[in-house]
Amino acid sequence: MDTLNYIILVPMVYFSFAVFVAGVLYRIAAILKKPSITIPLNVYPQKKPAWLHALADTFLMPAVFKAKPVMWFFLIVFHASIFLLIIGHIELIHSFSIFQIIEHDIFLGRGFVGLTLFISLLYFLFRRFSSNARNLSVPEDYFLLILLLLTIILGSELDWARTWFGYQEMTVDGYQTYLKSMLLFKPDISDVTYSGHTFMLVFHVFFANLFILFFPFSKMMHAIFTIPLNKIRRG
Ligand code: HEM
Repeated sequence: MDTLNYIILVPMVYFSFAVFVAGVLYRIAAILKKPSITIPLNVYPQKKPAWLHALADTFLMPAVFKAKPVMWFFLIVFHASIFLLIIGHIELIHSFSIFQIIEHDIFLGRGFVGLTLFISLLYFLFRRFSSNARNLSVPEDYFLLILLLLTIILGSELDWARTWFGYQEMTVDGYQTYLKSMLLFKPDISDVTYSGHTFMLVFHVFFANLFILFFPFSKMMHAIFTIPLNKIRRG
């Protein structure tokens, strides 16, 4: 079991991040290499400044708001929570004071970031069973949603155990020692593998690794391409 924990918490994490970086760069390079399209993509009226409109299209999604307000609500809540989730994970490496402008515990959000993501993902998943979206869905859509759901349930469980149920065996200090050691390429998992709760962390990191590995080759690349595409459309 110790070997399996080590493989998932150390080499698999390095491998996933390496594939992620190489994969994203490869996808960007492949697109840049393609011949430029001659048909005009900037179909919207030319409102200036185009960058500002592109950012508004990306982060406020006005077209979705008009067509599907409920979907829009969950999309906005989901993406705002992802932003907080990223800060939460960065703070699990080190408590940077820039994020502490508003003083808070680590992990950020007292467990509600995970809960919000969980509810939003259930909505995204069930929407595919019960609406026209079903006809447009491909296996990759379900795979991504289920993978995210598993990662988020397990991550949230770690946080809820600590913050809601007073389970103090796995601590932020322990996570910080582990993640800092990974960043310095001197892996040390001893502070996160002595507890009976370790398997939850190992499962969380396993599914997170799969998600990170899959990211560059999936629809998740919209996270990288949406702003430039909106900019092209806005002229
Ligand atoms: C190798 C990468 C990752 C590591 C090492 C990691 C580690 C952790 C740890 C240790 C916690 C528990 C924090 C606590 O007890 O408060 C946590 C929480 C969490 N993680 Fe991750 N994680 C990783 C990637 C991901 C990814 C890719 C996602 C989803 C996209 C994710 C979603 C979550 C969520 C939702 C929580 C709980 C947030 C909350 O409810 O406040 N994690 N993660």
